Parts: sequence; structure tokens; C-alpha cells
Amino acid sequence: MKKFIKNFSIFILLIAIFHNNCYAHVSELINEKEVCCETQTDRSEPQWYYVKDVLQALNSLSGGRCVMDNQCLTTGSNKFVITKSSNIPGKSVIELPGLVWGDREMKVKKIAVMMTLTESAIELAAATGVNVIITHHPVADGASSGGVLLKDYLNNYNIAVFELHEAFHGLHPGISFLHGHKPFFSDVNYGGIKGNVVHVGNVLSDIKTIGDMINRLNLFMNIEKDVTVLTSERTIRNCNDISEAGIAAKCKILLGKYENPINKIIHIFPHTGFNAHHLEELVSKNPDVDTLLASISHVYPDHELVAKANEPGLNFICGNSHALEIFENGIPLAYGILQYLPQAQIVIFRDWVTSTPLNNFGDDMIQNYGKDIAKKYLNHISDSI
Ligand SMILES: [Fe+2]
Ligand SMILES: [Fe+2]
Repeated sequence: MKKFIKNFSIFILLIAIFHNNCYAHVSELINEKEVCCETQTDRSEPQWYYVKDVLQALNSLSGGRCVMDNQCLTTGSNKFVITKSSNIPGKSVIELPGLVWGDREMKVKKIAVMMTLTESAIELAAATGVNVIITHHPVADGASSGGVLLKDYLNNYNIAVFELHEAFHGLHPGISFLHGHKPFFSDVNYGGIKGNVVHVGNVLSDIKTIGDMINRLNLFMNIEKDVTVLTSERTIRNCNDISEAGIAAKCKILLGKYENPINKIIHIFPHTGFNAHHLEELVSKNPDVDTLLASISHVYPDHELVAKANEPGLNFICGNSHALEIFENGIPLAYGILQYLPQAQIVIFRDWVTSTPLNNFGDDMIQNYGKDIAKKYLNHISDSI
């Protein structure tokens, strides 16, 4: 038995979406037309739509990237229908932007937008009257639904599920904007590697230092409030060792100091295949770059990119992690849908993923239950000697 086991529990918080000024502010700064979303609080009863209306809305907001009929699955005409595989037998998944499961004629009133489908999300949807779940990341039968078949589980609750993922990526410049820069160069297949996204950009006028960028991110993500929530949870559960994903993987400086000036940034997503050679090449093309920024995934001090960034004296900042993508992509997606279906009720499902030492997880009753079950039924050590 390992001495210490991480237990993850997913507390999915339901947040009603309210209109705020940031969206208009984004439009202003990225020189796009200002989008006016109606507030949900202005309206009386939400109106019923159909699943087919949701599909049409997603297809429209993505510029026609959804699977609208099964023909494109066989002809390969939709380039966003992509197989994702690590060559692990039976573990690949095909991305199907659009309707994954559900009857197009089913009525819809309440829509949940989230990042990654789980059994907890399906239970939350059913318990709160959600008819449609729209996930950003691709859905996999069984894996996204607690080990049971999607069709059985979703039909049991009359829930339709959509996904978008790669069909949503590249539609907006929000991630750069949140990190405080505006790209003048972008490549989604850098070095010929599919999905190796790279931006090179100039900082926005209010970003002068590394500290300005970090403060900006923390303000947009409202990290202070999350820390307060985590602190309360630690107090209530009498355990200071509880961690939470978004807070544990918050932005950090790998090279440089808080007060270092920043002007020109290379923005990478390390999990997509960016390597030290790519960095060397980009720096030689952009010798005035002063900062390397990694987001969605981070790297840690012994990574080759840290040593390579140190050679020309770059700052190296880890920005938002994947745990906060619901803010970066989920909120714009939700407001995008609301523009097409203004009477729909939209909620955000957020993952609040925590780590707790085994002996602090739950109270005495459940601790004793776990120990007794393990001792009586899960102990075959003497048999195997
Ligand atoms: Fe992605
Ligand atoms: Fe993602």
C-alpha cells in the first residue's frame, strides 16, 4: 500500500452567466465588432429550442466546422473530424464537432457548457434540468461517462451531448488577450507538427513587466476568490494539505524577476510538441524577443526549454494552466451560443479538482469503512507470497 495516495474529487460548481463589461472590453482591444449579449436576468421564462437549433448555432459560430450529416465522416471532407491516438490499443478517439449523442427533435431549455465530460457532469445535468451538455474537449464512449455506455446513460436522463474542440480552436484571439499580448505571427502547425501552436506578439499597452502580466491573469481569473474558497475548505475539513488544480498550477516565473520589463513574447503550448530547436529558430527570427510564455500546459525547471530560454537571457513565464481553460474558451463559447439562442438558459460546469491525503479524506465513518473493506476483501498479500 502506498503511504500517500492522491484522491481527486470533482466538485462541479454551477455558475450562472451574467453579462459583464470584460467581453465588450475584449472586442474593443482586439478591434473586432462589439458583441452585445442580452443579460439572462433581463428575461422572464427561458424559451424552448430544439437540439437541431443548438447544432445550427454551433455550426454557425464555428464558421461551418460542425458535422451536419454523416457523409463527411466517410468522405473526409470535414478536416475537424480528427483521430486522436497515442497508439495505445483501443484508446484512440475521433473528434466529431457537433452533435455526439441525442435526438435532433428533442426540446431544449437549459444548456451546460463545460470542458471535459464526466459522470459527475452527467449527474449534475440530470439533477438540475439540463437538456444539453456542450463540451469543449472530445467525448469518448465509456471514458466520459463513468465506464458505462453514453447511449444508455444519456438516454436515461434525456440529455444530448455536443463537442467542438479543434473546431473551436483558432476562432478567437482570447488566450493571447488574457495573457496581455497581441500576436503579429501565429502558426498552428509550427515545424510541420500538427497542432503545435505558436504565437509571437507584442505586449498590450498596459503590460510593462512580468508582474503586470501575472496580475492581469490573476485578476481575470479571480484567483483570489478561488484561494478564499480553498482556504475555507481547508478550515472546514480541518486539513491544510488539500490542493486544488487551478490554484496549484497557477502562473509562475521560471526565469526572470517580477519587475523585469517585457515587450515581445513567444507564446507556446508545450504539450503540442514545441521543442528547444523550435525556440532557437524563433529567437533567431525575432532577436528582440525578451520573454517565453507557456500556457495551457506548463513546464518545470529541469525542462530543456528552460535551459534553452536561459541562453539568450529570456524571461520564462508559465501562464494559465489547462485547469482554467473554462474561463479562456468556455465563457466565450457560452456567450457565442447565447447570441444565436438568446432565450436559452446557459450554465457553466466548472471542475474544481482537489487533492487530499488519504487519511484526511472524509470523516471517521468512511475512513473505517475503507480500511475494513480493504482488509477483508482486498488483501491477498499472504496468498501471493
Ligand atoms: Fe485543445
Ligand atoms: Fe484544452
